[in-house]
Amino acid sequence: MTDHPAVLVEGLRKSYGRHTALAGLDLLVAEGTVHGVLGPNGAGKTTAVRILATLLAADGGRAEVLGVDVLRQPQLVRPRIGLTGQYAAVDERLTGLENLEMFGRLYRLSARTARARAAELLERFDLAEAAGRQAKTYSGGMRRRLDLAASLIMAPAVLFLDEPTTGLDPRSRQAMWRVIADLVRDGTTVLLTTQYLEEADQLADRVSVVDTGRVIAEGTTDDLKRQIGGDRLDITVAEGCDLGGAAEVLARSGTGAATVDADERRVSVPVSGAGILAEVVRGLDEIGVTIVDVALHRPSLDDVFMTLTGHGAAPAGATGPGGPGGDDGPPGPRTGDDERDLVKA
Ligand SMILES: Nc1ncnc2c1ncn2[C@@H]1O[C@H](COP(=O)(O)OP(=O)(O)OP(=O)(O)O)[C@@H](O)[C@H]1O
Ligand SMILES: [Mg+2]
Repeated sequence: MTDHPAVLVEGLRKSYGRHTALAGLDLLVAEGTVHGVLGPNGAGKTTAVRILATLLAADGGRAEVLGVDVLRQPQLVRPRIGLTGQYAAVDERLTGLENLEMFGRLYRLSARTARARAAELLERFDLAEAAGRQAKTYSGGMRRRLDLAASLIMAPAVLFLDEPTTGLDPRSRQAMWRVIADLVRDGTTVLLTTQYLEEADQLADRVSVVDTGRVIAEGTTDDLKRQIGGDRLDITVAEGCDLGGAAEVLARSGTGAATVDADERRVSVPVSGAGILAEVVRGLDEIGVTIVDVALHRPSLDDVFMTLTGHGAAPAGATGPGGPGGDDGPPGPRTGDDERDLVKA
């Protein structure tokens, strides 16, 4: 451990021509932690990561990795970091093993050490069986794992992951989450960008929510979820059932007031997790209410944005730089993206 934070960013600015990508970004990431940078398309996530990884020059502000200025001393930063890009950097014509060996050689490992390290990483990422196949025959998830393995040839002190699971199926996504958790246990600090609140929730100790190139909220995902009211349970009941009675049952188990949508015959209540589901079902059964549909709505990035900015997580530019004011409006329209049907009659 050093006395420095793993990552320190202050007032970071970057424009592409007249377009501002970073408008004074601030980040502080403690060593040994996972920090999530959560934001919609065009928020400036990749720009920030590329500057921190010394691949792009900033226009102004401060950016340090492990106490070293990335703008002034990039050569001291590079040996201590790894970067997995949004788009995989592997060579399609090479096999998985050859790709990793090549990266090892680029880092000046001996042929033998490079080969051993490659084999170890292929094993860890569940690619040992596919090691001898050309990367172009890999599925998207395998490609992404190979890309992550390539960024870990030197077991970096700080790892930047730019949307590591975008486009992966749920199983590959969970495999990736496990690998990332293992790395952190071994002492790597991770800064990851994501568009998924759920991913940040799984992995990150702290989160910075970024909108049009600046941080609009910072804290733990629990802090964020508290601000937006956490999960919501929606129960649709059969025609003719007692909606008021159902609302009372839900209110007993929820963390806030229940609301009734008489037209949809739906009763909703804020909850913390799915744990109270059995209790609610029993309670409704006792008063003779028949359930038609149960859905647990987990807050999404859209909900976070709706609460923090009054607009959804639209791509930057759609609302113009600066965007609408930060008034906390009523909880906005739900997207249904993250809606999970638990029971369907
Ligand atoms: N090379 C470039 N030239 C011009 N504009 C750019 C360039 N790269 C990024 N931008 C713009 O800068 C803004 C921030 O882009 P960036 O790629 O950092 O966003 P992001 O948060 O990574 O988005 P995504 O979630 O889509 O990957 C966007 O409006 C984008 O259009
Ligand atoms: Mg990006």
